[in-house]
Amino acid sequence: KSLAVFVSGGGSNFKSIHLATLNGAVLGDVVVLVTNKRDCGGAAYARDNSIPVVLFPRSKEEPEGLSADDLVTILRKFKVDFTLLAGYLKLIPVELVREYPKRILNIHPSLLPAFGGKGYYGMKVHKAVIASGARYSGPTIHFVDEQYDTGKILAQRVVPVCAFDTPEELAARVLHEEHRLYVDVVAALCEDRITWRDDGVPLIQSKE
Ligand code: GRF
Repeated sequence: KSLAVFVSGGGSNFKSIHLATLNGAVLGDVVVLVTNKRDCGGAAYARDNSIPVVLFPRSKEEPEGLSADDLVTILRKFKVDFTLLAGYLKLIPVELVREYPKRILNIHPSLLPAFGGKGYYGMKVHKAVIASGARYSGPTIHFVDEQYDTGKILAQRVVPVCAFDTPEELAARVLHEEHRLYVDVVAALCEDRITWRDDGVPLIQSKE
């Protein structure tokens, strides 16, 4: 299966997914990296690993960026099967959501629907979790629809929130679990082990 990965920052989820495609844990190939920041860590890793980098969206910082229609054309050229958002901070255009129904995933570093939506990203998520007194947090992987962080939830894992956690400590604990969860989920996606409950909730079938 051909995978497109979208990043805006360090790309640690992208790296762990790419490594999993190299060691056979994921039966797929990352065929293109899409980013809104040409010089981010994820883009540098892609260049070091001969993965084509595409800039999206067009902006004054990135005038070579693509329009939504051009992006869809490029993803068709790469014959992308699934699109994986991993630390991508821009909204996904409706053109893309319609081109890839039930084939765009996003990872968010809290147990959605809690602490999700526009404005909840990066350390803001973990600060809010700690301030709430929540005893657990963890990553959520969901299908992308036309709003931020509101698509159908596919997978979650929990990590403890410790009494005197700093946001950075909680973020690191969640991020570690993100890497493991995303690889397991993309492996299931590439092996067609996703089914859909009658009410539209996606389920992962475990390997027999
Ligand atoms: C992570 O917290 C992830 O949950 C969020 O973006 C942050 C950075 O991820 N989506 P990465 O290191 O760029 O993969």
